[in-house]
Amino acid sequence: MSYVGALIASDTVSGVPSHQRSFDTTLDPCSYDHGDKMGSINDQDFMENILREHKIDVVISSIGGQGILDQLTVVNAIKAVGTVKRFLPSEFGHDIDRADPVEPGLGMYNEKRAVRRLIEDTGIPFTYICCNSIAAWPYHDNTHPSEVLPPLDRFQIYGDGSVKAYFVDGVDIGKFTMKVLDDERTVNKSVHFRPSCNFLNINELASLWEKKIGRILPRETITEDDLLAAAEENCIPRSIVASFTHDIFIKGCQINFSIDGPNDIEVSSLYPDEPFRSMDECFDDFLLKIVDKSVEDEKIITPNPKVEVLPKTEMCA
Ligand SMILES: NC(=O)c1ccc[n+]([C@@H]2O[C@H](COP(=O)([O-])OP(=O)(O)OC[C@H]3O[C@@H](n4cnc5c(N)ncnc54)[C@H](OP(=O)(O)O)[C@@H]3O)[C@@H](O)[C@H]2O)c1
Repeated sequence: MSYVGALIASDTVSGVPSHQRSFDTTLDPCSYDHGDKMGSINDQDFMENILREHKIDVVISSIGGQGILDQLTVVNAIKAVGTVKRFLPSEFGHDIDRADPVEPGLGMYNEKRAVRRLIEDTGIPFTYICCNSIAAWPYHDNTHPSEVLPPLDRFQIYGDGSVKAYFVDGVDIGKFTMKVLDDERTVNKSVHFRPSCNFLNINELASLWEKKIGRILPRETITEDDLLAAAEENCIPRSIVASFTHDIFIKGCQINFSIDGPNDIEVSSLYPDEPFRSMDECFDDFLLKIVDKSVEDEKIITPNPKVEVLPKTEMCA
């Protein structure tokens, strides 16, 4: 299951009311027990059979970068079956019709845009989740920043560090996605996550983290040209993240448009009493991980904790 898929799935089992018959397209087909049949989301007949036999009425896709276009088959299967009441394609980031990253991020957005256009052409009821940035230190070379501790040695500040962005905890992405599914107000809408408590620029993020760890860290400037050069390297997925980082923290792609169009809705306006976890709380979680890790390290007598970057398979052009 994908990283974002796991966030949503964890919410379906955490007691929040959710749909009875939903399907996540990134479930490993081999683990999907369909009698004596196994299949893939690229197989339209298989997808139609799954949708029919299990009477699935909500499909959430959280397919990662390299599988975005595979969703076209899913959309065609949903159209053929005709009983799905809501499809959430794999978005979970920016409003891809408004954001304008350089390549290679642009290529990924063009694929996501193609999926949107097919959904709209087929008339399947949809909701686009535009949840902005996952609450974490926004490393420009890591697709899953919430799996990595914020810096403990130095900050890399993008440009002058003054461009703001919205940060949303993974738990809240799952929680609000599950609420939106059953909400008639979100049919054929883009749902934007703009929690005012987590509207921060990278300088503010750095200061907040410094307060948590109780010390000041040196700052290194990563210029616009540095980010563009990292994008131009075309190492996938690292360069895709660099192009998004440039779009967010240099060009302001999360904040350079208002969400007052007829198809836009802000999630807090739907659920005004439902709080978001604050960035402060999210940083507390990271701090706990450092404390836990220190205790572990003491047991095996190793030096100070270091930022852990998970190994990633990269493809460079
Ligand atoms: N807002 C943010 O900060 C943020 C951060 C990360 C991601 N996202 C977005 O969230 C969405 C999910 O990304 P992710 O990073 O969570 O994905 P991910 O962890 O890279 O996982 C990708 C998943 O898609 C599956 N997949 C790909 N092609 C498939 C196919 N044809 N059939 C079945 N499964 C297939 C992969 O299966 P295998 O492992 O078997 O290949 C894997 O489980 C994307 O739209 C991404 O842009 C947003």
